[in-house]
Amino acid sequence: MKRIGVLTSGGDTPGMNAAIRAVLKIGIHYGYAVMGVYHGYNGLIDGRIHQLQHSDVDNMIHKGGTLLRTARCEAFKTEEGVQKALKVIRAYNLEGIVVIGGDGSARGAQVLHQKGVPTMLLPGTIDNDMGFTDYTIGFDTASNSVMTEIYKIRDTMRSHDRVGVLEVMGRSSGDIALRAGLAGGADIVLVPEKKQDWSAAADHLVANKLKGKLTSIVIMAEGAGSADDFKLFVRNNTDVDIRSIVLGYIQRGGQPTAFDRVLATRLGARAVELLNEGSSGRAIGMRKNAIIDMDIDEALAMPPQFDMSLLELNEILAKF
Ligand code: ADP
Ligand code: F6P
Repeated sequence: MKRIGVLTSGGDTPGMNAAIRAVLKIGIHYGYAVMGVYHGYNGLIDGRIHQLQHSDVDNMIHKGGTLLRTARCEAFKTEEGVQKALKVIRAYNLEGIVVIGGDGSARGAQVLHQKGVPTMLLPGTIDNDMGFTDYTIGFDTASNSVMTEIYKIRDTMRSHDRVGVLEVMGRSSGDIALRAGLAGGADIVLVPEKKQDWSAAADHLVANKLKGKLTSIVIMAEGAGSADDFKLFVRNNTDVDIRSIVLGYIQRGGQPTAFDRVLATRLGARAVELLNEGSSGRAIGMRKNAIIDMDIDEALAMPPQFDMSLLELNEILAKF
């Protein structure tokens, strides 16, 4: 029986399980045995590989995290590590591999393709920092989780007439901050994509206070700075009462949204179709609600998209 492998690598995201499920079911549909590769590229190097069964993905579409586990694997960045992985791939007769992960994992997928292993890349990261696709798997869930937390923080800040600054994930991308901030009615959104003056932000908070708006919410993308530093800056320069919150891993876990489940399912299904057609080195994404695939080198050369007009819209909304 023909065999393909599937692995998750880098930070986990809600929706990875939905993608694995789709790869397994569509794989079976095309007559493949689908092999789960555990702990990212480590599993390819050490042969942590087991055939997936229906029971592995049963009741999994709604679960966050990844049933294959994930990892960061320094060894796979070396030629020695890659050679070990190629041996394992040959030993297991894997005719294709689906990699689900972010930008770094995509570089690994690129290497596999260059070495002649038919490889497909699915974008899986909450950061939404992959330019070839409008959305990465997990971003919608993470931004919804942040939005929900904003309202909990807002309740307590409002009760005390305080300002809350929430630090959110995203690495060097401000997309989670922007989307959750816009959806959560944040007064200020600080992102790495735009140089923003903290003095102007502090002045905005003071102006809000003077006009009687005692509670403001500031969203700080981790790539733009730390919520604690911003809190200290505001405390040192104004009389605004401010608290900082680092949201952390709660924004990376939890049930995937319908959007992420459907996205992951469509991407996973397309990956298997493409392998079955004999393609390799394709990055699969979604643009304008259509599933697209493109050359992985071209895809990785595309800079992350950031919708500056949404940030400007939020700035106008926050004036009134
Ligand atoms: P993400 O995929 O979420 O961006 P990382 O950047 O940590 O996460 O990358 C995940 C893994 O991808 C790394 O630990 C490594 O195993 C693999 N990887 C990253 N860069 C390369 C590279 N240049 N060559 C081969 N593998 C890589
Ligand atoms: O790339 C996903 C991400 O959650 C980033 O938003 C964050 O900066 C990073 O991973 C955290 O990584 P770790 O899991 O190593 O703490």
